[in-house]
Amino acid sequence: MQRSFIVLLFLGCVRALLQNFTVDDTSSDIIYGGHTFQCNSTAPCPEAMTEWKFNESATLTFGNITFNFTGVAFYSSLDVVGASSISLDGEEFMTLNTSFSEAAAGEGSHNMSKADLPNVLHTLLIAPIIEGTVIGFDQLIFTASLTDKKSHVGVIVGGVIGGIALIFGVLFAAMFSRRRKHILWRNQRRSAVLRGITAANVRQDYSNRADEEDGKELPT
Ligand SMILES: *[C@@H]1O[C@H](CO)[C@@H](O)[C@H](O)[C@H]1NC(C)=O
Ligand SMILES: *[C@@H]1O[C@H](CO)[C@@H](O)[C@H](O)[C@H]1NC(C)=O
Ligand SMILES: *[C@@H]1O[C@H](CO)[C@@H](O)[C@H](O)[C@H]1NC(C)=O
Repeated sequence: MQRSFIVLLFLGCVRALLQNFTVDDTSSDIIYGGHTFQCNSTAPCPEAMTEWKFNESATLTFGNITFNFTGVAFYSSLDVVGASSISLDGEEFMTLNTSFSEAAAGEGSHNMSKADLPNVLHTLLIAPIIEGTVIGFDQLIFTASLTDKKSHVGVIVGGVIGGIALIFGVLFAAMFSRRRKHILWRNQRRSAVLRGITAANVRQDYSNRADEEDGKELPT
């Protein structure tokens, strides 16, 4: 019962172990397939692009953006002028289209996200699908799940605790049976001694009685 309680405790911890990581456009984990232009405080982003907040920089590109991550979700937003396809693990899940006039009106920003993914290695690919598309990228958040590692730890800890309990159980059983044997042996010895004493007493009784009888007999 104690062991299952510990396992439950670990499962409880596991639930809380989702962690968000923010990846900047300057990160080496973001792979750009074409020419890039980094805009920052000294080289401001084009008017059509929305304001960039994270780490004071954004990257504009005419090519693909690839990002590999192991996790259960990701969240980002892209500025697109033109059209681009967003796919995860080789499967397109959205296309983002913005005409130049829409972009000029500040409507070029699109959210993209996917949650409840299996906790494996994923490849996010952002690819322009029409000539002259510009993609603006600032940051991406992905949610890593430390579940697997932790549940392994849980299993290991559970196993170790179970093992220790087993060893103690065996030791206790061995000690108990030794003690029982000892008590049995002691009792046997004690009863043997008692038997001896009793036998001696009985013999004494007999001889006393014989003496008494003898004594009684004497006067007659
Ligand atoms: C991660 O960030 C997303 C988007 O900001 C948010 O909805 C989600 O709750 C966050 N998850 C965790 C575990 O912090
Ligand atoms: C912010 O950008 C700088 C380079 O411009 C980079 O060295 C740094 O790692 C970035 N910070 C984060 C949190 O990504
Ligand atoms: C976006 O544009 C591409 C190419 O012009 C087109 O194939 C696609 O259907 C468009 N998607 C949306 C959602 O408008």
